[in-house]
Amino acid sequence: MEILIRDSAEIGCILGAKIIARVVREKPDAVLGLATGRTPLRLYQELIRLHRDEGLDFSRVTTFNLDEYIGFAGTHVQSYRYFMRENFFRHINIDPQRTHVPDGTATNLHAECRGYEQRILDAGGIDIQLLGLGRNGHIGFNEPTGSLRSRTWIKILSEQTLRDNSAVFGSFEAMPKHALTMGIGTILDARRCLLLAFGPAKVRAVEHMVEGPLAAICPGSALQLHPRATVILDENSSAGLHYADHYRWVDSHKLDWQRNG
Ligand code: GLP
Repeated sequence: MEILIRDSAEIGCILGAKIIARVVREKPDAVLGLATGRTPLRLYQELIRLHRDEGLDFSRVTTFNLDEYIGFAGTHVQSYRYFMRENFFRHINIDPQRTHVPDGTATNLHAECRGYEQRILDAGGIDIQLLGLGRNGHIGFNEPTGSLRSRTWIKILSEQTLRDNSAVFGSFEAMPKHALTMGIGTILDARRCLLLAFGPAKVRAVEHMVEGPLAAICPGSALQLHPRATVILDENSSAGLHYADHYRWVDSHKLDWQRNG
C-alpha cells in the first residue's frame, strides 16, 4: 500500500484528480471505476476543471460505479446514478452509453450482478478504481464481515452506514436498506486502486485498513492484498497511524518515476 499524507482534503483531492487524469492521458480509452459519497466530490470538480481548462478528454473513457441503492431508478435524486450525472458526467464530454452504474431497479437483481461483472470483463477490466472509506471500514457497500473474495452482489446496509449517510437523505426511515455493490474480489481485480479518506471520523477505519490485520471485519484492509493500491489521507484521518513518519519518509524519498504528481 502506498500511503500519501497531505495537509488537507483539498490537496488530497487535487492529487487524486491528477492521478486519474494521468491514466486518461496515457490511455484515452481507459476504464475508470468510480465512487460516490462526499469524499470524492472535490476530486470530480478538479477533473471537470481539467476537462474545461486543459482539454482532458473523456470521449473514449468507460466508467463503472461501485454501487447503487436497491429500488432507486436513475432519476431518483438520491440514486448514485443521479449523483454521478449531476456531479460529474454532465460536466464532461463522456458518452453516457459508456457510463455504468448497477441497476437497483432490475427485476432480477442476481442477474444484474452477474451482468455487471460481465460488462466489466467485456470492457477489458478496470484500469483504476476510485474508493472512499466508510466509518466502519466498508468499501463500496461491502460491510464488515462480507467475503473478501466477493463479486458484485446484494448487501444489507449496516445501521451505522445508514446513519452516516442519512444526513443527505433527511430521514433514516426513507433510506433503502439494501444495495448492489461490486464485491471486494471485483475491486481487487482493478489494475490500480485509489482510496481517499479524510477527516477525523475516518481515523479508526484508516488505522484498521492500513495497519490492522487483513480481516473481513474491516473490508478496506483487503487493499493490503492489492499490488498497486494508493491511499490518500489528510492530517486528520491519518492521526491514528503508528507508522505515519515511515509513510512520510517513503513518500519523500521516491524515485522520479515513482512520484504521483
Ligand atoms: C457510502 C458509499 C461508499 C463511500 C462511503 C463514504 O456508503 N457507498 O462508496 O465511500 O459511504 O462516504 P463519504 O465519502 O460520504 O464519507
